Amino acid sequence: MDSIYIYGGNFLRGETKIQGSKNAVLPILAASLLVKGTCVIKNCPRIADVCHMQNLLQELGCLVSWAGSTVTVNAFHVNDSRMNGESVTRMRSSIMLLGAVLGRLGEVAMAYPGGCVIGRRPIDIHLSALRDMGVEIGEQDQLFTAKAKKLHGTELELPFPSVGATENVILAAVTAEGTTVLKNAAKEPEIEALCGFLKEAGADIDGVGSSRLVIKGVKALHETKYTVPSDRIVAGTYLTAALAAGGSIFLENAPAGQMKALLAVAEKMGGCVTVNGEGVGLDVIHKLNAVPYLKTEVHPGFPTDLQSPLMAALCLARGESIIEESIFENRFRIVGDLQRMGAEIKTVQNKAYINGVEKLQGTDVEAEELRGGAALVVAGLAAEGKSVVKNRHFIERGYENICKDLRNLGADINIG
Ligand code: EPZ
Repeated sequence: MDSIYIYGGNFLRGETKIQGSKNAVLPILAASLLVKGTCVIKNCPRIADVCHMQNLLQELGCLVSWAGSTVTVNAFHVNDSRMNGESVTRMRSSIMLLGAVLGRLGEVAMAYPGGCVIGRRPIDIHLSALRDMGVEIGEQDQLFTAKAKKLHGTELELPFPSVGATENVILAAVTAEGTTVLKNAAKEPEIEALCGFLKEAGADIDGVGSSRLVIKGVKALHETKYTVPSDRIVAGTYLTAALAAGGSIFLENAPAGQMKALLAVAEKMGGCVTVNGEGVGLDVIHKLNAVPYLKTEVHPGFPTDLQSPLMAALCLARGESIIEESIFENRFRIVGDLQRMGAEIKTVQNKAYINGVEKLQGTDVEAEELRGGAALVVAGLAAEGKSVVKNRHFIERGYENICKDLRNLGADINIG
């Protein structure tokens, strides 16, 4: 069965190690296409989205192999610029290959990457930025095509600091002719990781970590090794599990420096946060306070990917919390399932009003997308009795082994 079984209502106690970052490793795997040779990428999570990316790289002619959590990509023979496999439509991040394949081969034909239930996921910002770099965009037998005799640097400003569009511009610019100045670039840690990998491989990028990147095109990148940072959203998800169920947990390798917004919320709710060289700890020994108002923002604001997991925890906080989701248009998908567990939530457009209740009752619920599914697991850990979260495959897109990790933290949870 494609489900997760949880017997909730107990405190969490224990420690677990945080996996490599999904949203960092996907653009880095795409970037390995730009190296006519071998790249070794360490701390790579074994998750469905990485498998999809591996399939796409192999479709393009790369050799990809694993040893433990280390992936080796040999992109010497990249020869095909067409990607129309189901991996493209099934995974939004396939759009990141656009900039990389353009940088390597100068042309791409690919299916439109899928949207998903959290939003339409348009790519207008990507395409308009690439047009500014000399790319001609077209359409041919249901595939969209992109061609550039020679990508050239330019000065451009994104209308919105889109993470994916920033990554695509970087991937197209690192071996383009001339210099690209990218303003209003996204500042998510995953952008820094991508730039870190590319600089290791010989790219010339200034302004990393800021919203203004200056990328000087180089002739070629060279082989390199890189270690993927830990996943701030997986770590944040497990912290919301402790906020919801109570207890005392420690997350080894949790990237505290990238999680400040969530750690501040956890402390405001009454949790006791510990940060040291090894990771992040959280002690929750009494009923937590509500969060009067929280708005999801681009980094370093509160991340949209942790909005649903936090909502699950706020269902049991003392008082009313208000969450405003400002990044995606449809990211309150789990409200119905939480209400069936006894939560008191109402939504008005992109705001959710959550009135904390004494307890939640375990029940059968259905994941519809990655972070909403993880949030239902968080709710199940806090609810009394048995919960079954169906459609586990959505959660496995981003969590390497959520059941093992949570069992390490003392949860009674299994796949079924
Ligand atoms: C990345 O998606 C992440 N995915 C998402 O994580 C994350 O939620 C998102 O950034 C925001 O932080 C990966 O890194 C693989 P955006 P991305 O472009 O790049 C609109 C997860 O759970 N937009 O910053 O697609 C878009 O519709 C996933 O791990 C346009 O309108 O995010 C959205 O409303 C979910 N036109 C907003 O911008 C465009 O051309 C943010 O999108 C591009 C985006």
